[in-house]
Amino acid sequence: MSLFVNLRSVVHALSDSLDLVGINDVHHGKRVGIMAVDILRTLGRSGEEQAMAFDAGLLHDIGVSSSDLHRQLVEDFDWEGSQGHAEYGAHMLAGFPPLAHLAPPIRLHHTHWTELRDRYGSTERMANLLFLADRIDVLAAVAMQEDRLLEKVPVIREQIAGHAGDMFDPDLVAAFLDVSRKESFWLALESGPVLDYMEHVSRDAPQTETSLEVLQGVATLFSHVVDAKSRFTVEHSEGVARIARYLGGLLTESRHLDAEDCAKLELAGYLHDLGKLRIPDAILDKPGPLDERERRLIASHAYETFRILSRIPGFEDIARWAAFHHETPDGEGYPFHLKGDELPIQARILRAADIFQALAQERPYRSALPAHVVLAHMRQIADKGKLDRDIYDAIAGHLQEVYRLARSLPPETGRPAAQSD
Ligand SMILES: [Fe+2]
Ligand SMILES: [Fe+2]
Ligand SMILES: [Fe+2]
Repeated sequence: MSLFVNLRSVVHALSDSLDLVGINDVHHGKRVGIMAVDILRTLGRSGEEQAMAFDAGLLHDIGVSSSDLHRQLVEDFDWEGSQGHAEYGAHMLAGFPPLAHLAPPIRLHHTHWTELRDRYGSTERMANLLFLADRIDVLAAVAMQEDRLLEKVPVIREQIAGHAGDMFDPDLVAAFLDVSRKESFWLALESGPVLDYMEHVSRDAPQTETSLEVLQGVATLFSHVVDAKSRFTVEHSEGVARIARYLGGLLTESRHLDAEDCAKLELAGYLHDLGKLRIPDAILDKPGPLDERERRLIASHAYETFRILSRIPGFEDIARWAAFHHETPDGEGYPFHLKGDELPIQARILRAADIFQALAQERPYRSALPAHVVLAHMRQIADKGKLDRDIYDAIAGHLQEVYRLARSLPPETGRPAAQSD
């Protein structure tokens, strides 16, 4: 099976979620990609190399899910703890063949030029270009937040020039100093132009047949980034994806779903919590009840998910189902307050899968619940009219299997473990 989408548009849109980790500064990866392209263009490098640098720029911090880690990387110009996220990001990318070529430069994107120059080839140059653009952006972001970017340009140029020959390749720094004399280099980093740039790139990407396997691969990759945000949500999205697909299969006949619906349900499961990357770690891991401001922030994640996914032509259904995972049939859900028929069956299934998996998993304020307790909670929700009765019945009729899928237990161990609960 395949869907009619462009893989590069999917990657570009999903990479947007990585930038959310910056909380209030949400274009870091895109700016790094744009600057890297500009520097390569100045050096007369090929369009192919520019495209690779752009993608690597968007994804270079795929190993960063935590807002605390992000802050460290931004506050310290040459932080000694920076290698961990580079290794982790490269490791994740290496496991997904269509993006595996980006893993080697991303692994080295915080390595000083002095450590690379003895084995300097195209990978090392790409890595050092990312490092350079990344550090320029750290300086530029501070100036932009103070609304003084153009005024700060001479200081930024001087600081970068001071690291030519130690942190950075002198040839790359020379190209940067050349291109950054133009105001246009800096003005392109503002929010509006960054978004225009992204739109321009995606307009050029034709929709083609992309196999479901490839789409599952990219969705899994980003689900790992989201789930790595908190130790409590490891494999949450994967569990939701598995359950949603399974329930879709059980309801195929009665709710007129087909194989494509089930496949899209799985993708929506992987991606439903993308917007959570914008929530500060301290709120997601808070052991006690949330205050009003914190609750509002958490509630915004489904909307962020919608924004990201609805930018992918061919993902319209997936965007809606994923973003509606906190909507309830009575209109009291969030953030769209959909009611009755406005809420498609696929979104209702996804919501059931989300609740079930969360209950079956440990949370900061409670331990993981056994299968029969999870079912009792689901029943209460159904009794209040917030969960369709046939979805509840499907879960109740296959409780051990759904529980096994939630906990990602292998079939042999799944059954006894769930029953012993
Ligand atoms: Fe980084
Ligand atoms: Fe970065
Ligand atoms: Fe979730």
